[in-house]
Order: sequence, then C-alpha cells, then structure tokens
Amino acid sequence: MLANKHILLIVGGGIAAFKSLDLVRRLREQGARVTPVLTKAGAEFVTPLSLSALSASKVYQDLFNLTDEAEMGHIELSRAADLIVVAPATADVMAKMAGGHANDLASTLLLATDKRVLIAPSMNVRMWEHPATQRNLATLRNDGILVIGPNEGDMACGEYGPGRMAEVPEIIAAIDGALADGPLKGKHVLVTSGPTHEPIDPVRYIANRSSGAQGTAIAKALAALGADVTFVTGPADVPPPMDVTVVKVQTAAEMLKAVKAAGNVDAAVFAAAVADWHVANAGDSKIKKDGSGLPKLEFAENPDILATVSQMTKGRPKLVVGFAAETDDVIANATAKRKRKQCDWIVANDVSPETGIMGGSENAVTLISADGAESWPRMSKDAVAATLADRIAEALA
Ligand SMILES: Cc1cc2nc3c(=O)[nH]c(=O)nc-3n(C[C@H](O)[C@H](O)[C@H](O)COP(=O)(O)O)c2cc1C
Repeated sequence: MLANKHILLIVGGGIAAFKSLDLVRRLREQGARVTPVLTKAGAEFVTPLSLSALSASKVYQDLFNLTDEAEMGHIELSRAADLIVVAPATADVMAKMAGGHANDLASTLLLATDKRVLIAPSMNVRMWEHPATQRNLATLRNDGILVIGPNEGDMACGEYGPGRMAEVPEIIAAIDGALADGPLKGKHVLVTSGPTHEPIDPVRYIANRSSGAQGTAIAKALAALGADVTFVTGPADVPPPMDVTVVKVQTAAEMLKAVKAAGNVDAAVFAAAVADWHVANAGDSKIKKDGSGLPKLEFAENPDILATVSQMTKGRPKLVVGFAAETDDVIANATAKRKRKQCDWIVANDVSPETGIMGGSENAVTLISADGAESWPRMSKDAVAATLADRIAEALA
C-alpha cells in the first residue's frame, strides 16, 4: 500500500518528535519515500542529521533559503508528495493551521498544499483540553484535515490524560487509510459506538450490555473504503480501530458534545447504545448505606443524539443512519422510529437474549429506509459492517 508513496513529514517541536524517527524508519521499510521538514522548535528535539540519515533525504528547515528555493520552491515542495503528515503536531502548529498562518516553512507548506494532510497531535493534557486547542481542532476537522490520536496515557511531563501522540503503527494505519483509493475517499463519516455510563455517584453507574463490536466493525469497514472516520465511543469491551480518530466518552451528554465537535460530516452512523435516562440526583460523593433507607434515584431524559442530528437545519449529514435494538415487533418499532427521529436509515435488530446478538459475534439486521424494510441474512458483525459500508458508499456516490 505504501510502496512508492511519497510522504512529506513535518516534525514539530514536541517531546514526541523522537517517535517520528521511528515513523520514518517504518514508512521506509514499507517502501514509502519520506521528505522531512523540521520546524525550528522541532530541531531542539531531533537533529536534522538523524532525520536525514533515516529518510535518506534532504531535510527542509527554512522558508528563506536561497539554495532550497532554487532547487525546489516551497510551493512545489508542498505539492510533490502524495500526503502531508504532521507528527508531532504541536498546539502551535495546529493554531497556525487553523488561523491560516504562513510565517515559517511548515505553516507555509500546509497553507499552500493541494494534498491531503494528516496530523498526529501531541501535547500536555491541559494544552489539549484548552478551549483554544479544541476550537482549532474543530476548525481543522471542518477544513478536511485528517486527525489521528492523541491517545490517553502517562505523559512525559508526568501528567495523565489525552495528549500522547498516537503510536507509530497507528499513524501508519492512518496514512494507509488516507492513501487508500476506496469509494469513500475524501468523505468524512462519524460513527458512534458502545454503551454509555450514566453515574449514580462517583463509583456507581447505569450501563447496558453493548460491547461496541458492531460499531467498531462499521468504523473499520468505512475506513477500509477510504473514509476519514471519527469514532465516538462509550466504554466498550472491544478496542477501537487503529486508523480512525477516536473520541472516548462516558455519558450520553458527553457523546452529544463529541458528535457536535466532529464538525461537518458526509454521513453519520449512530450505532452506540445510548442510555435513555441519566440520574438527575447523582451524588457528588459516594452514596452511603447508612440505615436511613434506600436511596431514591430520580431519572431525567438524556439528549436524543440521533434526532438532534437528523433534524439539524444547517450542516445535516447527507446520510443519517440510526440503530434500533428491539425485543418486540422489531420492524414496526424501527419503522416508527425512523419517522419519529427523521433519520434516513434505521438498522434494526432483535436483541432478545435468545438471539445472542448483544455481546455476540453475529447479527441479523433489517435495513429500513424510505423504500421499505430489507432483511439481511444472519451473518458476522464484520459482514454486516462491510455490507452497510458498501451501501453507504453507494448513497454518497
Ligand atoms: C521540553 C519541551 C517540550 C515541549 N513539548 C511540547 C509538546 O509535546 N507539544 C506541544 O504542542 N508543544 C510542546 N512544547 C512547546 C513547543 O515546543 C512550542 O510551542 C514551539 O513554539 C512549537 O513550535 P512548532 O509548532 O513550530 O514546532 C514543548 C516545549 C518544551 C521546552
């Protein structure tokens, strides 16, 4: 897949820059050609010599360099590659990209390019969570920039949380996806997956039995067709796919926020089993068994994510797909749900315990659209996902 592909790799000034050396090695092992661009700050973390030796290429650093400009002008450099990858993408690079700045070689190339751009953000958790960075991220996603990571974990600065750069195999999988020539290339698709957890108090929650297997399979199948997938997942049992942008949430309210933050999408697939209610009087501290009687939980309705997106008056995805997990009158209930929510398709399935579908590896679904109900034979969740992804590609063509 990567053989003979040309990657322009911009290395920003983050602590994760050392991982970019390994990224260059792995890309070259797979036959790709890598041209590195090192920011001024990036050169504080890795040397141009290491990058040059590993890439077997000249390393570009300056915008105003007479020799470089004479050999290959910056506009040409920005367009010579098949894909531009920014790893690590610092908060600063992201801000420059979102603002359209062009005050050094990296930002100028990113503004001048006509090629797809994939960024692997990496920064301290507070920098990542800062509203300015999140605003910039939303802008970049809306501009069609592909994003891989960041992951959650221990950070070099000693803090814990989202901000670690995606691992090299994850970045390579995302590069593969970005270069894939599938029917969904250039399309941005949102997939929600898994259950939500609604807190009762800081240690207890209300959940459901969704494993996230079907949503994960759908995200994988869409990415395999070349889509840029944003995958918003509750606390699922199965790990998220590698070559998608993963946003982890706990509650329905967080899921809605993440869905809105995903920006404009061509299609949205709502496979998550979102809790209908949350506990309105959830305790800020652990509810004690203190002999004063049973706790009285009060429930309040959660936001309806499927209806909210289906009924958007501005920026509605061209195709909105909902899921209906039913135990009785599957087709009638799902048909009514499609009308009520105003989504385009409903993928309905019978999740009665005897079907073994919830938490199992197979699914038997009925696709409900304006044209009626179409029942698919029972098959693996991967096969359901591949069939659905093909149908989505047809609908977006
Ligand atoms: C030790 C050290 C580590 C840093 N790590 C990061 C980082 O991981 N992510 C980030 O966004 N900025 C980090 N910074 C700040 C950037 O280096 C700084 O914002 C710089 O201007 C980025 O330049 P660039 O975006 O042109 O590469 C770090 C700074 C220092 C001194």
